[in-house]
Amino acid sequence: MHEEEVLGKAYDARLMRRLLHYLRPYSANVAIAFVAITAGSAASLAQPYLMKVAIDRYIAAGRVDDLDRLAILYLVILVVAFAAEYVQTWTMQLTGQRVMFDLRMSIYGHLQRLDLKYYDRNPVGRLMTRVTSDVDALNDLFTAGVITIFGDVFALAGIMIIMIGMNWRLALVAFSVLPLIVLVTQWFRRSVRESYRVVRGLIARINAFLQENITGMATVQLFRREPLNFAKFDHIDATHRDANISSIFYYAVFYPAIEAISSLASALIIWYGGGRVMQSALTLGALVAFLQYSQRFFRPISDMSDKFNVLQSAMASSERIFKLLDEPLEVKTPERPVKRQKPVGHIIFDRVWFAYTDEEYVLQDVSFEVRPGQRVGIVGATGSGKTTLINLLLRFYDVRRGRILVDGVDIRELDLAELRGLFSLVLQDVHLFSGTIADNIRLGHSSIDDQRLKRAASAVHAEPFILRLPEGYQSAVAERGSTLSVGQKQLLSFARALAFDPRVLILDEATSSVDTETELIIRDALHVLMAGRTTIAIAHRLSTIQDMDKILVLHKGKLRESGTHQELLAHRGIYFKLFELQYKSERQQEPLELRTQNSA
Ligand SMILES: Nc1ncnc2c1ncn2[C@@H]1O[C@H](COP(=O)(O)OP(=O)(O)O)[C@@H](O)[C@H]1O
Ligand SMILES: [Mg+2]
Repeated sequence: MHEEEVLGKAYDARLMRRLLHYLRPYSANVAIAFVAITAGSAASLAQPYLMKVAIDRYIAAGRVDDLDRLAILYLVILVVAFAAEYVQTWTMQLTGQRVMFDLRMSIYGHLQRLDLKYYDRNPVGRLMTRVTSDVDALNDLFTAGVITIFGDVFALAGIMIIMIGMNWRLALVAFSVLPLIVLVTQWFRRSVRESYRVVRGLIARINAFLQENITGMATVQLFRREPLNFAKFDHIDATHRDANISSIFYYAVFYPAIEAISSLASALIIWYGGGRVMQSALTLGALVAFLQYSQRFFRPISDMSDKFNVLQSAMASSERIFKLLDEPLEVKTPERPVKRQKPVGHIIFDRVWFAYTDEEYVLQDVSFEVRPGQRVGIVGATGSGKTTLINLLLRFYDVRRGRILVDGVDIRELDLAELRGLFSLVLQDVHLFSGTIADNIRLGHSSIDDQRLKRAASAVHAEPFILRLPEGYQSAVAERGSTLSVGQKQLLSFARALAFDPRVLILDEATSSVDTETELIIRDALHVLMAGRTTIAIAHRLSTIQDMDKILVLHKGKLRESGTHQELLAHRGIYFKLFELQYKSERQQEPLELRTQNSA
């Protein structure tokens, strides 16, 4: 079952306490709303009573002058009711919006700090639902839920007391329809709750489906999966529609049923009360007031059973939100991080073991050293754990056993932001944000001025293509940089890396998806980038790392060989075999990885 489909209790004290915590900053608003609701309910309770007084005391007695005064009083009460409702709606909506804002900010803040491990387990679509519709559901709780239910209960109790006070026999007659109401309401609540649960689950599925298929539209079109995916979506969408339609049925039955029962109550009141009036045991005014009260009695009942669902889904939403907020952060800055003087970028992997899931170790007992200024290449088959090394060095994940030292300090004892600030990472798949070219190089660091920006771009040969764009550095980048070529994005990411002037440069297959001509430009750019810095370069193509100071060969999670290009060739081991393979295929004019890409 989807997390979205679980509907818990309508009222959960533990959750409610946490929710109220979010209301605390706005307690003044809430207090005002309470007063307004109480005033509004009282005003609406007073109206039928005034009617009774008007009929019995003045109209029946022919005292027209006093009737004027009463009419004015009635008018004043109407104005009070109006004002009260206005104040209530305004303050509650205002509070709801502010609480939603706070909640969204704290969810987003938490998402930013959560470990990548969490993102491995949770699809994007579901996390989006937390920040959007789950928060919306909570807003309903504040605006339409808790506080107005208080108003409803207040009105119901008030009406019952007044009716019993006016004539308890007639009140009993009017209340005789209550068992019917209870039955209908129970049926409605149970049925709607079920279809509501199904609808929520389906919305989550629609989100997840769309998220996956819209981002993957190119693949969908390439593999001509349109009809298949259309049919899939058709199915989910139709189920969603039908679930909604069935809940519409319950609503369509429920409201008229309540209406009918309320009319039945009126009929009973007229039948019994009319008789009492004729026997002079009841005044006409009281009868009229009774009729009005009984009408006002049924509205809150039907409202409340609807709000019950709101409450329930809000509780379920808050359960999910709090679960996200309670998700512990494993990778974080320690209480007292070690402060260092000038970082030099000296890296040591000391018997590092790591597994993404339970006991499937993707790195086993890996040890190596990268000295300041040294350039180290890492090679190995796909899946041998190269990227994982980087993930650990940047603390996207923490090691299971062993330790990683940067400048002699275990990275778990360093300030996280400070640690990451040492590195620039260039990936094969460059992530661009919407904004301008300049924004994407600078990434919000205003310390990088225009001059530094341009120097970085021209050093990595990115400037020529940038200047060819319609507005140069100020040209807009489409979402995920879809209007730029892979090579252009790569050059941008080099410019980004250089502009940040990091101590350590890390390249993860940064050049493997560009053509030969661009690669030549990039290789030149790389030399500029690497000058005077510690560099770790992961590469498919051995040619790009041949002249490195040291090459590490990773095989199935183990560090099997290390040395210079010449040393490794002389060793005639894994590296030698890899080299031979690539050398052969390059003689056949086409690099190995290009061929595998074309055939995909
Ligand atoms: N986020 C992840 N969750 C679980 N397993 C992963 C994750 N990332 C990578 N792996 C697994 O870890 C192994 C090493 O992956 P990786 O370091 O990316 O290899 P390489 O970069 O050498 O191609 C692979 O078997 C891969 O399936
Ligand atoms: Mg990789």
